[in-house]
Amino acid sequence: MSPSAQLVIVANRLPVDRVDEPDGSRRWRRSPGGLVTALDPVMRANDGVWIGWAGGTETDLEPFEDDGLSLVPVPLSSEEIEGFYEGMSNATLWPIYHDVVAKPEFHREWWDAYVTVNRRFAEKVVNVAEEGATVWVHDYQLQLVPQMLRELRPDLRIGFYLHIPFPPAELFAQLPWRRQLLEGLLGADLVGFQMSGGAANFVRLVRQRVGHKTHRDLVYLPDGRTVRAAAFPISIDAAGFEELARSEGVEERATEIREALGEPRKVFLGIDRLDYTKGIIARLRAFSELIQDGELDVDEAVFVQVATPSRERVEQYRILRDEIDRLVGRINGDLGKIGQPAISYLHSSYPREEMAALYRAADVMVVTPYRDGMNLVAKEYVACRYDDAGALVLSEFAGASDELRQAWLVNPYDINGMKTALLDAYRAPAKETSRRMRAMRKTVLRKDVTAWARAFLSGLAEVPPDHGKQVKPPRAS
Ligand code: G6P
Repeated sequence: MSPSAQLVIVANRLPVDRVDEPDGSRRWRRSPGGLVTALDPVMRANDGVWIGWAGGTETDLEPFEDDGLSLVPVPLSSEEIEGFYEGMSNATLWPIYHDVVAKPEFHREWWDAYVTVNRRFAEKVVNVAEEGATVWVHDYQLQLVPQMLRELRPDLRIGFYLHIPFPPAELFAQLPWRRQLLEGLLGADLVGFQMSGGAANFVRLVRQRVGHKTHRDLVYLPDGRTVRAAAFPISIDAAGFEELARSEGVEERATEIREALGEPRKVFLGIDRLDYTKGIIARLRAFSELIQDGELDVDEAVFVQVATPSRERVEQYRILRDEIDRLVGRINGDLGKIGQPAISYLHSSYPREEMAALYRAADVMVVTPYRDGMNLVAKEYVACRYDDAGALVLSEFAGASDELRQAWLVNPYDINGMKTALLDAYRAPAKETSRRMRAMRKTVLRKDVTAWARAFLSGLAEVPPDHGKQVKPPRAS
């Protein structure tokens, strides 16, 4: 039987990962993401339900509870995983929304799968949402859900949040289904973005492509409803990370990591999902050139790069993995010494404790995406540096650079500029790094993920029961 709720969270993934035990039994492990940490208290307070895909192809998963959270799995067939998830979501929308860093592919069958799966999610919501419930839909995989829901259940208060950038009109316009996507999002009462630029792109596109009246952050629909588009920059569980970083186990592990690396003078660190938007290749190249140029020495500096396996069946991701393998092999072959590689490369995912230990062990954190909605790794690093030590090199094209102004900001397309920034961060006197880190820590600790969730949900709670039908557009807009 499906549970029922006043608060429904809808995301492509459930907040748990499946663990298959050696004895053939199955259990669920809470995934480490910040989203579930943020929503956990609100979910509990409101007896909330989370609807999402469990990651496999089972069709018979019943709704279940995990540690007091009520979860409703949405099944996907292997053809749907191909068309909806690997295809439309991650080989069409993902590259378009990230500045076309890779070439997007357009396939009508993928679109059809996207529509089918979005409808399935919407139907699940209909089954669990109580009269007048609040529904919060997440991310680019589910952009049609708000409108589908609005048609099926006009009583609901619907919010949508996009975790990735919303592209400029010129790029979005490439999408053969641009109008349907905009209309899909307009089913929501409140559409949230990471940055105000994304919200402005959306409003402009709605005016240009759908022809609705708009004024500032409001869209006026022909049926009288209004839709608000605004920025809600996401954050992390900052206090939780700091607490973890302060724990004895993590401190010990950080020392162990430095020992295992041969006690270098400085440790550079990159931690990313293995994704072409993250700029991994360019950053490793910049570091290796510094060694070639004689500015850095493998006796003194090492670069630890963690790349978490991701979307491994999508071609662009496979190509990138091979490229990184080749590049790391070449750099270490050319520049490493026995027991001292220039780059220590790990293709693996780690629990929060290990991440915190890596952050504690690193002197220079290098976050250089070509485009990133926010980048939580940058904020996690800052949260873990309670000693005010450590330097952050951060791309201007990560949303986080808006708040973390005291980082060494770089243009990841400019390899020489990156080399200079890496070196400056490496050589910066402790006084300078701690001045910068202190300022960044203030920002990160003040605005955590709970504040983010609260801001979005209170924005949604302000939506009047008539969905803004009394709000009249100004004459000249
Ligand atoms: C990004 C997206 C999320 C997604 C995550 C992991 O952060 O914004 O929606 O869940 O990457 O990607 P995956 O494809 O494994 O869900």
